[in-house]
Amino acid sequence: AVGVIMYNREGSSGQTFGYTYENQDIPAAAISREDGLKLAEKLKKETLSTNLTIQGAGTVDKTSYNVIASMKPHKNKDTGQIVTVGAHHDSVADGPGANDDASGVSGVLELAKIMAKTPTDTELRFMTFGAEEKGLVGSYHYADSLSEEEASRISAHFQMDMVGSRDSGDLIMFTPDGNKNLVTDLGASAGARVAEVVEYGQLGRSDHVPFFERGIPSALFIHAPLEPWYHSPQDTLDKISREKLKETTEIVGAAVYQIARPDTPALE
Ligand code: PHE
Ligand code: ZN
Ligand code: ZN
Ligand code: ZN
Repeated sequence: AVGVIMYNREGSSGQTFGYTYENQDIPAAAISREDGLKLAEKLKKETLSTNLTIQGAGTVDKTSYNVIASMKPHKNKDTGQIVTVGAHHDSVADGPGANDDASGVSGVLELAKIMAKTPTDTELRFMTFGAEEKGLVGSYHYADSLSEEEASRISAHFQMDMVGSRDSGDLIMFTPDGNKNLVTDLGASAGARVAEVVEYGQLGRSDHVPFFERGIPSALFIHAPLEPWYHSPQDTLDKISREKLKETTEIVGAAVYQIARPDTPALE
């Protein structure tokens, strides 16, 4: 099943709101700082060595947070490589953000839950960023604070942004330079399509961009064309399709597993 429990919104007011969807048909997701801490506790109980880091990502006068859960590889099979999977938990001031990007957060949390039971030879970092809508503030903070050594060990970043609307088109992948890379190759092998035309310009930026700029292969998973509710007050839970969420999360999960599982076959 797709979904975790909450989604939250950091509008321009800088406040964080939480909604519980436990009793709804389709759970959307996201996490406040408190929920992030609770999630980390839960993940620990489900076992894996999960560390949670809350990073302050300052905007002009507000504070935002990144939530990062790390799953270490099997101790006898550690390649030293890291794969990151991200979404953003803030939304625009005008939109509740059910699709943008509670959908991606639900995918990240669902994969964290599933991968928790899966041995890998690669460290996995599940992350949700704050202040994406303010100019990728959280993800720039994260990517820019990586050491050279750590950045060089991140082999792939998968970004899920707007992946659950019933009113959008097919799943595609975007890269900042329009070229294929390791992430799009893995995504394609799992059934996603590389966008042939980058139609969205500046709008097409999401948290994969700071990773890309640090030299890390990265791509955005999104549906195109966009739904009409994009960045509007109508970006609500009733427009979310369980099928869409499931499809995207399975594709990204299959792609991640392809590279992170022990004895990964060479892709090239
Ligand atoms: N940057 C957009 C957002 O978070 C996401 C997006 C990506 C929109 C690609 C269009 C195309 O709102
Ligand atoms: Zn947005
Ligand atoms: Zn978004
Ligand atoms: Zn491997």
